[in-house]
Amino acid sequence: MSISGIRALRGECSVSGDKSISHRAVLLAALSPEPSRIRGLATALDCRASVRAAAQLGAEVVQRDGELLIQGAPELPAGEVRIDCGRSGTTMRLMAGVLAARKGASVLLGDPQLMARPMERVAAPLRAMGALVETASGGRAPLRILGGGLAGVHYRLPVASAQVKSAVLLAGLGASGRTVVEEPVPTRDHTERLLVAMGADIEEGWQDGVRSIGIGPAGLSGLDLEVPGDASSAAVLAAAAALVPGSCVTVRSVSANPTRTAFLSLLAEMGAAVEVGDSGRGAEAAADVTIRHRPLRAVEVGAERVPLLVDELPLLGLLATQAEGTTVVAGAGELRFKEVDRISGLTEGLRRLGAEVQESRDGFAISGPTRLRGGAVDSRGDHRLAMVFSLAGLLAEGEVTVAGTEFIGDSFPEFPAVMRSLQ
Ligand code: S3P
Repeated sequence: MSISGIRALRGECSVSGDKSISHRAVLLAALSPEPSRIRGLATALDCRASVRAAAQLGAEVVQRDGELLIQGAPELPAGEVRIDCGRSGTTMRLMAGVLAARKGASVLLGDPQLMARPMERVAAPLRAMGALVETASGGRAPLRILGGGLAGVHYRLPVASAQVKSAVLLAGLGASGRTVVEEPVPTRDHTERLLVAMGADIEEGWQDGVRSIGIGPAGLSGLDLEVPGDASSAAVLAAAAALVPGSCVTVRSVSANPTRTAFLSLLAEMGAAVEVGDSGRGAEAAADVTIRHRPLRAVEVGAERVPLLVDELPLLGLLATQAEGTTVVAGAGELRFKEVDRISGLTEGLRRLGAEVQESRDGFAISGPTRLRGGAVDSRGDHRLAMVFSLAGLLAEGEVTVAGTEFIGDSFPEFPAVMRSLQ
């Protein structure tokens, strides 16, 4: 795919349901004996892996009139359950927690990209709870799990990861005694919110600035949820509007969960005009968001801000090329363990387009403003890098050709169509 030419983006649009919330809604609904109704599920291809996994857990899953109806089964089907998680890290890590708590043998595997990602981070706490979890060499998938008979643990996350936190909480739901997870830096809290909505025995605590979540064994009631628009897809559109002079874009019904709005605050800090409308109520609220282009200035992002911005940091890299000053991101080493090494992929691609970029072990420094030039860049098969480089094509003097745009659908299949609708 190639994009070129500066054209202001103007208009209103919406994005499909939030990917993180959709994964959790589907997997939690599959654990409840009561019927659940989920509206506005993500169209992100990754979420299909969670829907398939729910069915493989024995849940009854029906798609009807734009709704997903799910009713969980009390036990795993007989025999070894093999679940293909496709390219979805969230499916694999959350399912590891679910399967650890269920009696039976299972195997989690996926596409080569997913099989290269670190899984020891979920395997270790689940073993501490009593599950047998085998990883392949280097702590990678396939994960072989013999679950059941777990006991609660007190676990402090060694890396700020919502996926690891969620895996331990899901295992805690089926463990005897209490499970407590401490997160040194808060991460997205969708699992906790949905567990509360489904009547779980869960509580939040704070001590010395550290957030802890305690959960006890309990059955879940059914879930009735309207999934708000994907905050990270909306962030792509917000970044586009902030980057291209003359732009003004409204994205309707975006997740207003406070653990997902940090990027909007960052855009405002950089100088963009950001308006967030009233958010509705419910476990996962939504609000309309309007972003107008204004001249941008550099920002600094350190480790304490990284977890709530983690998926948006590649977008920040592109914004930094157009902002006055030097933007520095540090403490973001986790970016090297996403679908691909996003620090290396981002800095290599932006440098090819003429940006002034320095890569560090755990982040990058980018100075601006720079007039980007055209060129060929490789997203390395990563959906978020593919979208960032596509947006670079809106700004560059020549044509930007992006390899790997076919993977954009992992999170935001409508991206090309929505972008066209705003021009
Ligand atoms: C996610 C958590 C983050 C994020 C990923 C989705 C989630 O990963 O990067 O895209 O839904 O819990 P980590 O938990 O590895 O930080």
